[in-house]
Amino acid sequence: MDNQDKYKFIHDALHERKKNNQLRSLHALVPSLNSMDIEWEGKSLINFSSNDYLGLSKHPEVIERAQEYLQKYGAGSGASRLVTGTLSIHEQLEEKLARTFGTEAALLFNSGFQANTSIIPALVDRNSCIFIDKKCHNSLIQGSILSRATIKRFRHNDINHLKNLLEQSENENFNRKLIVSETVFSMDGDLSPVQSLAELAKQIGALFYSDDAHGLGVLGEQGLGLNYQQPGIDISLGAFGKAFGSFGAFAGCTNEMKEYLINHSGGFIYTTALPPAIIGALDAALDLISGMDVDRNELHQKISSFKEVLKVAGFKIGESDSQIIPIIIGDEEETLKLSNYLIDNGLWVSAIRPPTVEKGASRIRVTFTTMHSNSDIKQLINALKKWKQ
Ligand SMILES: Cc1ncc(COP(=O)(O)O)c(C=O)c1O
Repeated sequence: MDNQDKYKFIHDALHERKKNNQLRSLHALVPSLNSMDIEWEGKSLINFSSNDYLGLSKHPEVIERAQEYLQKYGAGSGASRLVTGTLSIHEQLEEKLARTFGTEAALLFNSGFQANTSIIPALVDRNSCIFIDKKCHNSLIQGSILSRATIKRFRHNDINHLKNLLEQSENENFNRKLIVSETVFSMDGDLSPVQSLAELAKQIGALFYSDDAHGLGVLGEQGLGLNYQQPGIDISLGAFGKAFGSFGAFAGCTNEMKEYLINHSGGFIYTTALPPAIIGALDAALDLISGMDVDRNELHQKISSFKEVLKVAGFKIGESDSQIIPIIIGDEEETLKLSNYLIDNGLWVSAIRPPTVEKGASRIRVTFTTMHSNSDIKQLINALKKWKQ
């Protein structure tokens, strides 16, 4: 095999993506600290694709505490948690997270992706079965694959289909069953029936893993998410890269589960602990989130009226019940055209195409944050209406 042949799979794969309008690329943006404006290639655009739902990445208190911890404790934690990377501030934050979210314990992870890909393989093995919603995030799917368990995917939010799969598996002799879903689906913005899933898991003695990455900060009582005070969840996953405005993740669980993960979750054990500045930012965000009801109510009102306008204008927006609003176009090329058209009109709304969503379901994914002004939203509505005409 010569060097050309060695790389053929790369050339072919990229060519295939290009041909199908599915090639992804990076865009370097410069954010503004007091608005949703971003600068890209000399253009000023309004960002409607950010998961910083409460604007906390730019909040003065979050930035200040990150600076304070940086000054006090240094730029890095210096080691993994089980070596010397557990600083007092990591433990304090875990205790505060558990107190706030009403779980016995909380365990920090370096990202939501890392948590999902390393907790699931710690919970189940090749003799187990995972029942996972078909629209779950890639990190939950990767975690399931890594576990080597049998994977059964149930139709999106379809409890009856899940029950059928569970019944069918009764004679299969699995050592453990794990039900996996996410509270707010990241590309559709619709919600899982978290209570029914928890009850079903309890009924059949399965473990239940509920990823609340996009619910946290925005939905539920005081923005504490959709897993909050829901009994029967074994792992309540929260990701900090969204409404918390910075980085990392945590698992809300029992003390015993925490001790088990500290001993068995590779993505917790074999990685450097989160740096002090991030812990500072998270500590401040945690202090702020539950007191932001006024901002949240305003955000939800803006979302409802935006959705109404879109429906009247004839856009297909699916079943979104959150700050994530897909505008489903279908064809990849047409979706890219809309995204580029919005850029020409001063708006950044990313196009989402297969394989992130299924073929024929390409979309632009609009996200609302508390930092979007009425005039930002008006600009988006006007551009979308003009496109539709
Ligand atoms: C449902 C869900 N879980 C996990 C993640 C990954 O989280 P992180 O960005 O912290 O790796 C995401 C991020 O897109 C997500 O949407």
